[in-house]
Formats: sequence, structure tokens, C-alpha cells
Amino acid sequence: MRTLVIASQKGGVGKTTLAGHLGVEAERRGAGPVALIDTDPQGSLAAWWNVRSAETPAFAQVAIANLVDHLAALEDAGIKLAIIDTPPAVTDTIRAVLAVADLVLIPTRPSPHDLRAVGSTVELVESANKRMVFVLNGAAVRARITGDAAVALSQHGTVAPVTIFQRTDFAQSMIDGRVCQELDQASRSSAEIGKLWDYVATHLRKGAKHG
Ligand SMILES: Nc1ncnc2c1ncn2[C@@H]1O[C@H](COP(=O)(O)OP(=O)(O)O)[C@@H](O)[C@H]1O
Ligand SMILES: [Mg+2]
Repeated sequence: MRTLVIASQKGGVGKTTLAGHLGVEAERRGAGPVALIDTDPQGSLAAWWNVRSAETPAFAQVAIANLVDHLAALEDAGIKLAIIDTPPAVTDTIRAVLAVADLVLIPTRPSPHDLRAVGSTVELVESANKRMVFVLNGAAVRARITGDAAVALSQHGTVAPVTIFQRTDFAQSMIDGRVCQELDQASRSSAEIGKLWDYVATHLRKGAKHG
């Protein structure tokens, strides 16, 4: 089993959106069974999953205190990929979650505030000695700042070669527990998620940085 952690100290950057979308995409592409885990007290990913009618991906209720044991139990149950959504704060929770990551995905909006805030997330991931990749999310079409942001981020680490644009179907689809691929598999949003999954999957296979 591989464990993908989606983290950022900044709220509203798309952690929960990408957790749901990548979970469905991983299942669709044969990388499942997938278990989603929500460690944010706000419970947005859990709320999305609760209104979802499809049976996959699975949702695992996990206590942080027993995270390692719970992940071992998921692996024993045949889960191939755990995707962990996290709260936007530096807490003991985030440290415990980073410790079990094979890969940390850090979504960032291409805005000066978000780019400045990324440093604290990077420090946390580096002190946990984990592999991380950035993805630009919520980019405006044809905005020059997206390219500038990618350059700025590349000074901290690897940036996914796919940008997720600001599109209403990312939000709209999640209202009734779906993702954009389930609204229209041929949409641009779906293609972006497909490419992001390809990239994440490649990095997940490489495993932990020094492990
Ligand atoms: N690429 C996108 N296009 C449009 N809306 C998005 C996109 N990514 C996220 N959103 C919306 O932005 C808000 C914050 O996203 P969310 O995934 O909840 O962020 P986080 O979990 O990091 O706080 C939500 O309303 C979500 O629907
Ligand atoms: Mg969230």
C-alpha cells in the first residue's frame, strides 16, 4: 500500500478537492482499492463522501493516535492506496500524518499570498524527510502569474507538469458527492486530473525519499 498525503498550511488551496478527485481517478485507473482518510476536524472530505452514492473509493475513519496501526489494518484488508486529507495548520496531527507519507502533494494557488505561505509547509515536509511535489491549482486561464508561480515554486522543489485551472465543475461536481470526471469524462478538468494522477502515480512508485 502507498500513502499519499495532501498538505498545505494554507486553507482553500484545493487539498480536499484534489483528495476526492485523485481518489476517484486512482480507482478508475486501476490503482485501487483506495481508502480516503480525513484528518481535518472540519471534515469536508468526509461530508463529500457521505453524500456520494458510488461505492468507491472507500472511506476510512482513522484515529490519529492509532494511525500506524490503522494503516497496517487497511493494507491487510487489501487497500492499495491511502489518500490522507489534512487540516490547514501546523499541529501534531500534521506531523503524525507526514510521518506515514510515501509522497506529499502540496497544492498551491498561484497568488503571492499562497506562494509566501508555502515555506512553512515545505519546512514541515523536509523535517519529516519526505518526498514532495507541488501542484498549481485554481489558475486563471492565460494568466502570466501561473508561470511565474511555477518558477517560484521550483526553487523549493518539484512542480507537477500539469496545472489545475479554476473551473466551476471542480466545485459543482462535489456538491452531490461526485468529481468532475463523473460529470463529463471528456472535460478539460477531467483531463487535468488524469494527468495529475499519472504524475502522482509515478512519484508514488518511487516511494519514500530515503526509504
Ligand atoms: N481548480 C478549482 N476550480 C474551482 N474551484 C476550486 C478549485 N479547487 C478548489 N476549488 C474550490 O475552492 C474552495 C477550497 O477548496 P478546498 O479543496 O476545500 O481547499 P482546502 O481543502 O485546501 O481548504 C472550495 O470551494 C473548492 O470547491
Ligand atoms: Mg480541506
